[in-house]
Amino acid sequence: MCGIVGYIGEKSAKDILIDGLRRLEYRGYDSAGIIVLDDKPNLVKTEGKVDTLDEKIKDISMPGNIGIAHTRWATHGMPTDENAHPHFDCNKKIFIVHNGIIENYKHLKESLIKNGHIFSSETDTEVLAHLIEENYEGNLESAVENALSKVIGTYGIAAISADEPDKIVAAKFGSPLIIGLGDNESIIASDASAILRHTKQVVYPEEGEIVVVQKDGFITKGEISPKDRIAILEWELEQAEKSGFPHFMLKEIFEGPKVIKDSIRGRLIVDEGISKLGGLEDVADELSRIERLIIVGCGTAYYAGLVGEYLLEEYGGIPTEVEYASEFRYRKPLLDKETTALIAISQSGETADTLSAVKEVKMKGVLTLGIVNVVGSTIARETDAGVYNHAGPEIGVASTKALVSQLAILSLITLMFGRQRELSLVMGQRIAKEIYELPAKIEEILSQNDKIKEIAEKYKDYKDFLYLGRKYNYPIALEGALKLKEISYIHAEGYPAGEMKHGPIALIDENFPTFGICLKDSVYDKVYSNLCEIKARCGKIIVVASEGDSEIKNIADDVIYIPKTLEMLSPILTVVPLQLFAYHIAVMLGRNVDKPRNLAKSVTVE
Ligand code: AGP
Ligand code: GLU
Repeated sequence: MCGIVGYIGEKSAKDILIDGLRRLEYRGYDSAGIIVLDDKPNLVKTEGKVDTLDEKIKDISMPGNIGIAHTRWATHGMPTDENAHPHFDCNKKIFIVHNGIIENYKHLKESLIKNGHIFSSETDTEVLAHLIEENYEGNLESAVENALSKVIGTYGIAAISADEPDKIVAAKFGSPLIIGLGDNESIIASDASAILRHTKQVVYPEEGEIVVVQKDGFITKGEISPKDRIAILEWELEQAEKSGFPHFMLKEIFEGPKVIKDSIRGRLIVDEGISKLGGLEDVADELSRIERLIIVGCGTAYYAGLVGEYLLEEYGGIPTEVEYASEFRYRKPLLDKETTALIAISQSGETADTLSAVKEVKMKGVLTLGIVNVVGSTIARETDAGVYNHAGPEIGVASTKALVSQLAILSLITLMFGRQRELSLVMGQRIAKEIYELPAKIEEILSQNDKIKEIAEKYKDYKDFLYLGRKYNYPIALEGALKLKEISYIHAEGYPAGEMKHGPIALIDENFPTFGICLKDSVYDKVYSNLCEIKARCGKIIVVASEGDSEIKNIADDVIYIPKTLEMLSPILTVVPLQLFAYHIAVMLGRNVDKPRNLAKSVTVE
């Protein structure tokens, strides 16, 4: 979903901008462009990939030290050279790149055309370039501020002017933007992946903030480089690289054990059977009064929330409901702001649907919490409090390690609420101890990677799959189906195992295999019976089962055994074989595993 890079310093901007775009490619895009200012503005734009752009500019001399570049994920206007960013004003002096949507662009465009402005693209973004031009009186940041005051929508922008080649003006509202402060150089980008190789000193613009970025620092709200705005990135450059794995997705699946350790580090006190969540301490009083939780998220994050519902009700002792973020914001939820809290789950912290849901309830005075991976992201800063995943950058578009971390953190939050309510010391200690055991248990599952790959080989040519699970593993059945369809493009449906006989069983025959999660837990017999019903209709069955369960072999065509754990923590283990299964099938089918077609890593438009 779009990538912005800006550079101002003493080096050649061209190479730094292209390298930055490459590091943001994983976000998903369809066209790209660059502008570098020197004695003349050098603007090149193209439909297609960054490689195409690089090819177009390789013989063009662009010695300038200031520039902006963009990878576009089209929302208004097809992916074409003309619609690619940067966009510019009538005099080709002001240039802008933008992530987001200008909701009122039609009205603004009509009035700009009436004032004589000539447009060269179909995009909403180009309106910004002409609005800035219309407000320009020799100071770019004032022109940007005045222009943005007329805009309704979301934006992360970087703007430059040929008349003021000593600054880049950056602004954000609802879309990601981060500023890196190097040694006599500054980098602006959509996320840290494009900044890490230059500096770890960063500034996170606030919602609605305009920042003037210069090579020797930044100016915000009239203050020059306020020290308290400078943060240090936690990531290492290699974390954003593949570290020898063929794909980011496989690397991130194998990071599962480390991710659990990083997510719980300093947050579990086994002797007292409690969790210690620093990010929630400021709202501890409000949380002690909470009698109802609403969890919102999209895609995989939503499925994490569904697991959270079982956790928080059974062990946290709190009535909990989970909503698709994109649906929740259009409901008229009856919320008691004194006793209700909303938990927004989002890896990127930039998902527009989730952000809108947060803003909707904040307006009503409801406490909002975030479970977010990207530090300083919009949702992380919009919510009243929250818990960072500390899972490191998740580059693969298909979310894997983030889910494992989200489930671990939901377990910690469950422990926090539960121990404030009915959960006993003994049970709290047992949960805490078992959480510490999870990394080793995930390692055991990862050691079966080759076996899972062999199973994937057997099933790679099937065109349809059914995924079944009950209770804590019903959401994991949904997630397993999502993983398969989003990276292999094979049709797959996740279903509550008990619901399968109310219709979907009509689909079953020898060409429609089923992936069942059937652990030795409170619902084993029920799931076992459902799988028997599949078997009775010649459906092939792959089962994720508990180590030591020999009975399951009577009905399963293939079994993947996983170590035992508490039922409430089992999703953290059962999801791993499903991730690996989907990954191997997608690779065997030659799919673009890290950047599947039509998908974006962070959907920052609604
Ligand atoms: C998951 O594999 C998908 N890429 C997608 O469903 C994703 O989980 C969803 O868009 C939410 O993203 P977020 O966690 O960054 O908010
Ligand atoms: N809405 C803008 C366009 O369609 C920006 C899209 C993006 O965020 O990449 O050009």
